[in-house]
Amino acid sequence: MDSSKLKEDFPVLQKSKVIYFDSACTTLKPRAVIEAERQYYEEVSGCAGRSAHALAKKTSELFESSREKVAKFLNAKPEQLVWTKNTTEALNLVIRSFDYSSRKKIATTRLEHHSLILPIMEQQRRGIVKMELMKTNSDGTFDEQEIASAIDRSTALVALHHTTNTTGMKAPLEKIIKIAHENGAAVLIDGAQGVPHSHVDFRKLDADFLAFSGHKMLGPTGIGCLVGKSGAFEKLDSFIVGGETVETVHIGSVQFKKAPKRFEGGIQNYAGAIGLGAACDYLEKIGMKNVEEHEKRMAAKVMDAIHSIPGATIYGAPAAKDRSALVSFNLKGVGKHQVALMCDSYSKIALRSGLFCAQPAMESLGAPQGAARASLYVYNTEKEIETFKETLGKIAKLGK
Ligand code: ALA
Repeated sequence: MDSSKLKEDFPVLQKSKVIYFDSACTTLKPRAVIEAERQYYEEVSGCAGRSAHALAKKTSELFESSREKVAKFLNAKPEQLVWTKNTTEALNLVIRSFDYSSRKKIATTRLEHHSLILPIMEQQRRGIVKMELMKTNSDGTFDEQEIASAIDRSTALVALHHTTNTTGMKAPLEKIIKIAHENGAAVLIDGAQGVPHSHVDFRKLDADFLAFSGHKMLGPTGIGCLVGKSGAFEKLDSFIVGGETVETVHIGSVQFKKAPKRFEGGIQNYAGAIGLGAACDYLEKIGMKNVEEHEKRMAAKVMDAIHSIPGATIYGAPAAKDRSALVSFNLKGVGKHQVALMCDSYSKIALRSGLFCAQPAMESLGAPQGAARASLYVYNTEKEIETFKETLGKIAKLGK
């Protein structure tokens, strides 16, 4: 893949000469995605599944064909895909509506995003579940011998990341999912940082639920997905109920539709769903294997750039092959926000700095005060990493 050529597809990169290293927060959007949304608003703009007029039918057609595209992107079936607002909503949907009547434990890790750990903590505060943490190490790896000890016949749900937003490292999912299923527990995967950066085959993965967001994979903000195995949605109670979630309603009795419609209350984000379909088309054209290879190359270069600065610390795996193109780091004697602000003002490099909405994760990685983070994607180039390296060199001098 030719990243310099791909850059031409992103209007933001044409309008401002930013070096965008904040794709874990949100990615830039290619023209094809913006155009798909524009087309919906300018040429259709109806609502799906309700009215009988032509614009409504066209909306239903575009909305459902987008569901097919996104499901196909993951090797899932369209009826297995529920539209949500984002990963956060999809994770809340499962954790808050799962049936804990016979099992109360949720196994997770310290490495999770707040979007996953907070709904579990809330359910625990209400006395509904008990949280159990799988042991992880300060380099972001799992203590694989210990996985089995956190999962047993009282575990209802095993909920964890595919890839973290603090180190870009993947969890050993094959092993964890196998142990979970042997114990009769369901598995919920936070795919927010996994689906955009590697080829995720939902059928092969064998998780019960997979959550992810559109805006982290070149799609619009405000659209996400929850994908569930056949039968998995039946373990969930209603979450947000309203228009289009029901077959019949009488005062005092209601018959809900089957998933996915049961979980899609109210008018949906049609433009967002259509835009996400266009993003999947775009990524498929590049090829997810090519995206993965590109990211490994970028990760190695970014790590070299940071390591060239004496006293710099990188959190997580020392080898680039174990990461997506995401590196959290600190420079000696210069604060994380200062690093990010100076990258911006010296060279228009966009980084994120702070705790990345994953405070327990940063604590367990040995960075309780947070870090700066470079997260790259398909439109980033080696030349940009050269500029990053030179800029870090200048910034590091201030810490002496
Ligand atoms: N979870 C997003 C990030 O890591 C917002 O930046």
